[in-house]
Amino acid sequence: MQVNPKIVKKQFEKHMDKYNQNAIVQESLAKKMVDALCNIQTSYDNILELGSGTGLLTQEIVKRLRYKKYFANDLILNSKKYLDKILPEYSFIQGNAGKIKPPVKMHLIISNAMFQWFKNLEKQTHYLSAFLERDGILAFSTFSPDNFKEIRETCGLTLNYKSIDEIKSALNKDYKILYAEEYTQVLNFSSPLELLAHMKNTGVNSLSSTHWTFKDVKEFCTKYTDTYPDIKLTYAPVIIIAQKITR
Ligand SMILES: C[S@@+](CC[C@H](N)C(=O)[O-])C[C@H]1O[C@@H](n2cnc3c(N)ncnc32)[C@H](O)[C@@H]1O
Repeated sequence: MQVNPKIVKKQFEKHMDKYNQNAIVQESLAKKMVDALCNIQTSYDNILELGSGTGLLTQEIVKRLRYKKYFANDLILNSKKYLDKILPEYSFIQGNAGKIKPPVKMHLIISNAMFQWFKNLEKQTHYLSAFLERDGILAFSTFSPDNFKEIRETCGLTLNYKSIDEIKSALNKDYKILYAEEYTQVLNFSSPLELLAHMKNTGVNSLSSTHWTFKDVKEFCTKYTDTYPDIKLTYAPVIIIAQKITR
């Protein structure tokens, strides 16, 4: 399914204060991406972070990379409240990352757990390439089709996740891939309700734009427990680091 940025914004905004304690996968993903990036380059004059949220990636960047100017973007203005505690100085650009117009060119554009919401990855990464300096780096993490496979199998809800090969070919025209990694991480819950709360608190219930009735929730819980007695949920993250091709 395709997701409307307005719904994404609403879901994240509502549960932002509970995000950090639930975003175990997103936090280790941010660390892994910065680890990989450090093996390539640790110093970037201008950095633009897209979908900064509560700053899980921001805090990793501040610890591990050197930079002169930091630009952060999110659909949600409240992201600033979290970033103000992490970054001594920065510019905040509120809006859809696929449409913003940064004031200067960047040496690094980076994003954690956000690109899966882009409707057209090829178009969006092409758009972003215009804001990268010559040989600039685009680093992002997203998720592949096995992400939340239990949810897809139980109730058919899924995003249009791309496979790692599809992601690579979407970048093909504008970027050279420097690093690509995919892995899975499985979380276990004590009940399907705890799992639903986890998804809600990480903003992921934007998979469904319709409100679930009590009956829907009950049916989901029974089906989930029957199919997955260990109440597991699979995450399938992908990390990509690419360099702009300058023609
Ligand atoms: C899963 S959170 C990730 C937050 C943070 N990057 C992290 O490392 O935990 C996704 C964030 O991206 C933002 N977001 C989603 N779609 C966006 C878009 N099109 N443009 C800008 N921000 C977006 C959401 O508001 C949310 O704060």
